Amino acid sequence: MSDAFIVNGHIIDPANNIDEVGDLHITDGKIGPVISHDSNDYRDLNRGRSYQSPVYDATGLVVAPGLIDMHVHLREPGFEHKETIETGTAAAAAGGFTSVACMANTSPVIDTPEKIEKIYNIASETAKTNVFPFGSITKALAGEELTDMRGMYSAGAIGFTDDGVTVMNAALMRDALALSAELGFPIMVHCEEHHLNAGAVMNLGETSRKLGLIGSPNAAEDIIVARDIMLAEMTGGHLHVLHVSTAGAVELVRQGKKRGVHVTAEVCPHHWILTDAEVEKQGTNAKMHPPLRTQTDIDAILEGLRDGTIDAIATDHAPHAPSEKAQGMVDAPNGIIGLETCLPLVFTYLVQPGHLTLAEAIAKMTVVPAHILGIDRGTLSVGAAADVTLIDTGTINRVDITKSRSKSQNTPFNGWELKGWQTLTLRGGSSQ
Ligand code: DOR
Repeated sequence: MSDAFIVNGHIIDPANNIDEVGDLHITDGKIGPVISHDSNDYRDLNRGRSYQSPVYDATGLVVAPGLIDMHVHLREPGFEHKETIETGTAAAAAGGFTSVACMANTSPVIDTPEKIEKIYNIASETAKTNVFPFGSITKALAGEELTDMRGMYSAGAIGFTDDGVTVMNAALMRDALALSAELGFPIMVHCEEHHLNAGAVMNLGETSRKLGLIGSPNAAEDIIVARDIMLAEMTGGHLHVLHVSTAGAVELVRQGKKRGVHVTAEVCPHHWILTDAEVEKQGTNAKMHPPLRTQTDIDAILEGLRDGTIDAIATDHAPHAPSEKAQGMVDAPNGIIGLETCLPLVFTYLVQPGHLTLAEAIAKMTVVPAHILGIDRGTLSVGAAADVTLIDTGTINRVDITKSRSKSQNTPFNGWELKGWQTLTLRGGSSQ
């Protein structure tokens, strides 16, 4: 097991309210005490200290708990031409993530305990990060019959989701949330009313009308968010709203929380940086579900991030092959990759403008998603797994998608100049 010393870094661990310059010791792949440079321990320790190797000099760098992405499509099994557990987690590690939660819309769909076990088995052989699988809510994502959630939960599923599609049957959602209330796992919901969304390839608005494309109204998302919050209220289950994109959804989550409903929510960088106007410039690299919206929605999401309505930041990393994305707006699949650009987008577009402090942003990518998923990660507590990310907040780098470790390249952020890059990712104390 790995030993290491990370010295002279700016240690930010929101789980323990640590925000100070110091050293972090790693012993047997576990976190040891943080030694603050202001403490007597530090002076005592440094008298005649000789470090064992490896020593990571973190002077001028931020030392954070390894980041957690609670919304990733790893595509294995079934879509290995887009991504595999190995390549997706390599991209995750390059982006500073040490844990990812992977979605169930693979082929076959992850809808039995055996398939949950299969993900763990592949991950144990090939993954560069910890991998936590979701099971699906309905069999084959067909929206007709609930899966064996109890069995999948026992097999290690960390929650349940039909992400990519909405469970349109409210009675099934009620039953899924009732089981969530009983067993404690989260139900992660993709919110787009299928009939309002029919044929839509982008947001309904000025740009969709200009381009002659079918648009989806904000109401398609808001109706399902409202419905599911009501069902969570009725059952006491834990509802997690995936990739919030509308001002209305932010407000519904805010009001739900005020009433004491167990509802949490995440947002993705593209939804608080880009508007639907991007579709005209970038075509299918700006096509995802839910779609890019308007500045009014962005402003509401930023307010939701600031006031705590939005709990977590996730990527919805959704790799697709170049030939698939080349099919044009109507036929190309939805989604963009995001694992390697998330951290610098958060730093450049949330922290630098002052929407969040760096500690608040790190919390939304570490201890908060860990808490939502019920996983023992996202902290630098003594004895925790030594998952650690070092971040350079001073250097501007340009996104170069040809250097991505993902198998796919579908991003609207290629060529963007950003600050706040990962420089080292340790998982269990070992460099990834
Ligand atoms: O844009 C998206 N792509 N949204 C989803 O919810 C699913 C994802 C995918 O699987 O490609």
